This record gives sequence, structure tokens and C-alpha cells, in this order.
Amino acid sequence: MERTLAIIKPDAVGRGLAGRIISRIETEGFDIRAMRMVRLSKTEAEGFYYVHRERPFFASLTEFMSSGPAIVIALEAPNAIRNWRDVMGATDPAKADEGTIRKQFGSSIEKNATHGSDAPETAAFELGYFFPGIDLV
Ligand code: CMP
Repeated sequence: MERTLAIIKPDAVGRGLAGRIISRIETEGFDIRAMRMVRLSKTEAEGFYYVHRERPFFASLTEFMSSGPAIVIALEAPNAIRNWRDVMGATDPAKADEGTIRKQFGSSIEKNATHGSDAPETAAFELGYFFPGIDLV
């Protein structure tokens, strides 16, 4: 079993897509171990995306991620990290395969509906960022 962090980003929450995305998560066979709605400050978004701090999109990304409520979810499944990234599809919705969440619900490379950890080390950091161990069931 493996755990990963999923985020339903402010664009998707704002458009009323959270229920459909959570339903998809369950249909795909992930167990939800923890979940809560957050309204990130700019500083919290910057801390979460610290690895991207030198990228040209960092300011815009952290502005967007702190622009409204998001839902953070701890997922568990065999190969959860890879599988959740496959279900989401490519970062850029325009390049995502048919049937993926980002193809269906993303509107730009920034407003791409969902986030998923990209490796075991980042999953550990990202899960810990939002869920102290005690919150995971
Ligand atoms: P996410 O999986 O949350 O990881 C970093 C985020 O940066 C990414 O999804 C996008 O929302 C955002 N982003 C904006 N522009 C780019 C870009 N050019 N390349 C990669 N990610 C980008």
C-alpha cells in the first residue's frame, strides 16, 4: 500500500466539481484516509510549492492556490502515486488523454483542477504538510 496527497484545486471547488472528483477517486479504487477543506494563505501555498520557487509560474501559481477553498485528501492504494497521476492526466489539460480528470475539468496548465504528489519523497512531505500523522485513519 502507498499513500499520496491529492488536492482539488480552487478552480474545481469554485466550479462545483468537488463531488464528481471525489466520486471518481472512489470509483478508481483509492481509499480516502483523510480529507479537509482549506483556504491557503499565500505563504502556505508558497511553502507547499517550495520546490517550484525558481520557476516563472511560481507567483501566479501560489496566487491562484490561495484564491479560494481547496480540498486536500490523503489517498491510499497500491501504487497510489503513479495511479493517481494517471487518473489526473498530463499537467496541461490540452495535452491530457481523454477520460482523465484534467482533460475533463482542467481549463489551463495552472487551473488544472487537481494536484498529485510526484514521488514517494514529495508524497511524504505533502501529506505531512496538511495531515499530521494523527489525522490519518
Ligand atoms: P501541480 O501538479 O499542482 O504542480 C505544479 C503546478 O504548477 C502544476 O500542477 C500547474 O498547476 C502549475 N503550473 C503552471 N504553469 C506551469 C508550467 N508551465 N509547467 C508546469 N506546471 C505549471
